[in-house]
Order: sequence, then C-alpha cells, then structure tokens
Amino acid sequence: MKEFIRNLPKAELHLHIEGSLEPELMFTIAKRNDALLPYNSVEEVKAAYQFSNLQSFLDIYHLGATVLQKEQDFFDMTWAYLERVAKDNVIHTEIFFVPQIHTRRGVSFDTVVNGIYRALQKGHLLLDISSKLILCFVREDSAEEAMQTLQQALEHKDKIIGVGLESAEVGNPPSKFAGVFEKALEEGLLTVAHAGEEGPAEYIWQALDLCKVSRIDHGVRCLDDEKLVQRLIEEQTPLTVCPLSNVKLKVFNTLAAHPLKKMLDMGLCVTINSDDPAYFGGYIGENFAATQAALGLTKEDLRKLTRNAFNASFVSHEERKHMLKLLDKLAFC
Ligand code: HPA
Ligand code: ZN
Repeated sequence: MKEFIRNLPKAELHLHIEGSLEPELMFTIAKRNDALLPYNSVEEVKAAYQFSNLQSFLDIYHLGATVLQKEQDFFDMTWAYLERVAKDNVIHTEIFFVPQIHTRRGVSFDTVVNGIYRALQKGHLLLDISSKLILCFVREDSAEEAMQTLQQALEHKDKIIGVGLESAEVGNPPSKFAGVFEKALEEGLLTVAHAGEEGPAEYIWQALDLCKVSRIDHGVRCLDDEKLVQRLIEEQTPLTVCPLSNVKLKVFNTLAAHPLKKMLDMGLCVTINSDDPAYFGGYIGENFAATQAALGLTKEDLRKLTRNAFNASFVSHEERKHMLKLLDKLAFC
C-alpha cells in the first residue's frame, strides 16, 4: 500500500505556499534578511506548532511569513515545496498565495508573485510538475482591501488562474466579498473559497450562490446540512479536504474520526490535500498515507480521490486527458 500511494500520480489543489515554509528555511531566510523571529532555534519553532483552533495557527503562520522580503525568498520557498512534492509523485499543483500579509509589511505585490511564479516555471521545466496560482484574500480584512489587491492582480493575469478566500472564517462570510468575486469573474478569473472548515454550512451555500465558486476548500461542515450535501453530490462540486490539517486545528479529534471515507462513499467529489504542510505535520503523500491507514481506504478509494483531483483541477482538456491516462496505467498495479 505504501508503494501504491507513492506511485499514485497526484494533483494538489489546496496548498498555501506560505504554509510550506519549513522552520529550517524560515531561519535561513531570517538570517540573510536580518529579520527578527521570537524563536532561538528550529526546535523552538517546532515546539510552538501546537494549535487549539484556526486562529491559533493563523497567528503563528502570519508571523513566520514576515521573514519573506525579497523575490528570492518567495522563489526559494516555492522551489523547496516543489522539490519535496516531486517525491510524492505530484504531477500538478494549484497553489494559494496571500499577498495582503506581505504588502501590508511593505513588500510589493510584484516581488511576491514574481518569486513564486519563477519557481513554478522552473518546476515545470525541471520536475515536470504543472501548476496554477490562486490569489487568496484575507477575509478578516475589508472588502475594499480585497478589491485593491484584485486590481494589483489584474496586472498579472497571465500568472493567476483564480481567487479564493482564506484566514479567519467565522464572522467573515463569503457574502462580504460578493462584489470582489463578481469583479474577478468578470475579469475571467475562476473562484474558490475556504468554507465550512470552522464556519457553518451556510457559508458553503454563500460561496456557491454568491461567489460562484468552482470548488469549496475544506467544506467538511456540509455534513450538517442534508440539502447541501444533495446539491454538492448532484453538481459534483469538488471539496478540497485536508485531513491532517483538520486534526491539527481540532476540526476533528482524530484522523479515525474524520468523515472523509463517509463523504467519498456518499458520492461527494472529495480530494486529499495538505493545506499548510510545514505546520500540520505532512505533505500530500503523508496525508494520503495517514488517512488510508486511519480509515482503511482501498486502492479503489485512492484512485477515486486522485481522479477527483484531476477532474477538479483548472487545466485544459488535453492536460486533463494526459493526467487521467497516467492514472489508468496504475490500474494494472
Ligand atoms: N483555513 C483558513 N485559512 C488558512 C488556512 C486554512 O486552512 N490555511 C492557511 N490559511
Ligand atoms: Zn487552507
């Protein structure tokens, strides 16, 4: 099974690039930028990664990101992620970045996007990993700030496939950003949103109806609402589920208590992703392996999860055909 999971070609659709910044690289970058961190060692950083909920994680994650200042920093972080997931047989990744946590510190939008994008191009050439970039708005910040960020993004439309919503969910419903998402859609961008992680099922309805999202990030709280589950099944709306993240942030107490298998069996279009692998104890391969072991997923379940991800990704018809073909080859294993 270990071998099967490693060989399974994968697409990752829920990955915050700032959440892939490993403590070792955080320290290296902090040193070269003379950036201050409230930790004395990598071990101290790791010891701080004990979270009681989403907000307790966000505080530390925003702090870690303050070391990122130059284009090379964003490049190095992204390249490290790509090199790591190449080992998990990731063939396609759709990466979130969150410019507002950098621009508010005086780092320009161009610095952020150019560093990440250059690494993605190198990843395509040298690692054969294709990719897309999705800009996430900070949902506790105002809709006006999100709109300003969108305006900056429009100058980089060649590099960005869509927009999403991240950070503190409860109290910041998708409805707050309906106007921003409308503008993004008019500009030809696709939309996604974190919804139903800590927030209620109602936020998933809003993301679908007001923000016209193509996918829901997390979405596990849909299970509280039977009508919503029916709709998600009927429309095959992809849910980018992040099992290890959900346990670390206490959305579920244990992986054994995670409803992923149940959701899959119900016919929901579930995918497995890592969210913030440097903070939550595992990259996508580890999420697959741990979830398989905890929930007894079969090879057919695992193929289904990866097929869902290929079908849910924002690639061309030709690229999707190519990815699905790789999966078919595995049917003989
Ligand atoms: N939820 C909300 N915001 C985030 C997350 C998440 O899982 N990861 C990084 N920012
Ligand atoms: Zn996330």
